[in-house]
Amino acid sequence: MNRIYLDNAATTPLAEEVIDAMVDVMKVNYGNPSSTHTFGQEAKVLIENVRREAAEYLHVSPSEIIFTSCGTESNNMIIKSCVNHLGVQRIITSPLEHKCVAETVLDVKKRLGVEVVYLRPDKKGDLDLKDLEQALKSSDKKTLVTLMHANNEIGNMLDIAEVSTLCKEHGALFHSDTVQSMAHTALDFSKIPLDFASCSAHKFHGPKGSGFAFVRRSSALKGIITGGPQERSIRAGTENVCGIVGLGTALQLCVDHMDEYEQRIKEVKKYAIDALANNIVGVRFNGRSAEIDRSLYTVLSVLLPFKDPMIGLKLDMKGIAVSQGSACSSGASHPSMVMMTVLDDNEMEHCTPLRVSFSHFTTKHEIDALVDALVEISETFGIEKANIEHR
Ligand SMILES: Cc1ncc(COP(=O)(O)O)c(C=O)c1O
Repeated sequence: MNRIYLDNAATTPLAEEVIDAMVDVMKVNYGNPSSTHTFGQEAKVLIENVRREAAEYLHVSPSEIIFTSCGTESNNMIIKSCVNHLGVQRIITSPLEHKCVAETVLDVKKRLGVEVVYLRPDKKGDLDLKDLEQALKSSDKKTLVTLMHANNEIGNMLDIAEVSTLCKEHGALFHSDTVQSMAHTALDFSKIPLDFASCSAHKFHGPKGSGFAFVRRSSALKGIITGGPQERSIRAGTENVCGIVGLGTALQLCVDHMDEYEQRIKEVKKYAIDALANNIVGVRFNGRSAEIDRSLYTVLSVLLPFKDPMIGLKLDMKGIAVSQGSACSSGASHPSMVMMTVLDDNEMEHCTPLRVSFSHFTTKHEIDALVDALVEISETFGIEKANIEHR
């Protein structure tokens, strides 16, 4: 069976170039970057090259890139350090955040008594920045705003330039979880005055276990892992040289081909939207995900007009991997906060959300196979096949 992978917001396949670069490091550059001999210094140079490339992509200083093990660690480090070391007593966030932000915010609330303000998104999953302004104005406590750039379930994008400016005007720190948009969109942090952001290599054809935090130097953030002086003493621990080189290779590939990949993926996404709409009567799309120019182009959140908690398994048995996690996070029996926000009670009861997410490897043939499989499953629920030919 030819397997089809349409779950690229969960993770992406490694690029061949990334594998080659990592194998070279594993075989040759095994020195500890903290060692002063040549083995160590060669490894150090590899890391510093990636730091420089990442900084160039974001238009920041290389010293503002702190390598970590993943997006989760970066987000934890930023939020916890803001509370532990920078005197943050209040956090403004939203119910749409990834668990690694949402749970970290809850943790500092419970353990350290940090006040938490949740902005309320509308039915499209958008936030009203007037609410943010109101929340910023309403307290003198030192505040951190943490709002994601691109939503991993519905692909909604936040105007982080506008949010940064508002935060600056009101003296608040701003962290954006940019895990889904890094390497997929152009980001210029010399123009966007945010304080912190996060990156995870496995979301753009790099390895798992490798990421970085962008930490604006003026913020004077400290870390949460203590030990050696690595990463400007913000993140102690011998660096994952191989993972960092993998991240750098993947980032460079995506940056060099950004326009081409974006165009190709948008075309496939548009094709998927049309094919689903033309073949399954009553299908809809969640949040802004079907608005090609308003959403992250890698994510499409579909709402099927029938209830089938087994849909992920059924598609998997046909060799097609998509995410149902958008409805029930990792098999949990309760729906995600994002789905509870964008769906009404009737939709929750009678419909099935499905996240289809693309990469530049995704083909229209693969979309055809997904649509055929969904039509077949829909028919078992008495949903008619639409009469419009999509290919
Ligand atoms: C928006 C967002 N933030 C953070 C993460 C966590 O990243 P990692 O898997 O590198 O810990 C993810 C991964 O799914 C994500 O989608």
